[in-house]
Amino acid sequence: MKVHVFKDSQAVAKAAAMIFAAQMSEKPDSVLGLATGATPVETYKEIISLYNDGQIDFAKAHSYNLDEYIGLEPDHPQSYRYFMQEQLFNHINIDPQNTHVPSGIARDLAAVCAAYDAAIKSDGGIDLQLLGIGKNAHIGFNEPSDHFSKGTLVADLTESTINANAKFFDSADEMPRQAVSMGIASIMKSRKILLIALGEDKAKAISDMVNGPITPQVPASILQLHDNVIVLLDKAAASLL
Ligand code: F6R
Repeated sequence: MKVHVFKDSQAVAKAAAMIFAAQMSEKPDSVLGLATGATPVETYKEIISLYNDGQIDFAKAHSYNLDEYIGLEPDHPQSYRYFMQEQLFNHINIDPQNTHVPSGIARDLAAVCAAYDAAIKSDGGIDLQLLGIGKNAHIGFNEPSDHFSKGTLVADLTESTINANAKFFDSADEMPRQAVSMGIASIMKSRKILLIALGEDKAKAISDMVNGPITPQVPASILQLHDNVIVLLDKAAASLL
């Protein structure tokens, strides 16, 4: 795990965007694993700015998002499909057909999960996976548990995650309690992983991920076993390292 600490969130975002640019220039048909949430917003802005400067071309890219809330239509303003359209896809030249966010509204969610893993595989697997991290060290929506999950799954969200994300909804009751999420094994199959964390809220999770024991109680700790992980932090997120 290579850990880099930057002076602020903007410097983190610029460094993350450069990693995307390098990936796309090395392999124009890269399969990108993407994340939502507050953390990647600035990174996506930097990526759009590199795209506008002609420094990244997404014409041949494919993307797979980590997760989607169960019960939210794709056009719901808090759905992760909507987030991706607004924050990234509408501003770059990725082919909409090549962008994938799991469905949170299909009747057969087990089939959605199986088809998602199969689609990633048939596209050749994820070349670069972007991750944020929860305060409880979740990655995707793989919450602390007594085992590491395998493929894409229907995940129950914990109180910590519900409390962290309910602020984006009009009322806490509207916040979904479940999500479709790539599993830990799906994430670990990515060839390269780029994890970003910002702010003091994430400092404990980062220190447990980097220096703690590998345990499903700290889902991100499994990344210690991956040989191509880059971690980009601002000073506050790195404060307990
Ligand atoms: C998002 C995701 C989550 C977030 C994590 C951090 O697609 O899978 O694991 O990365 O909850 O969220 P923020 O960035 O809002 O602190």
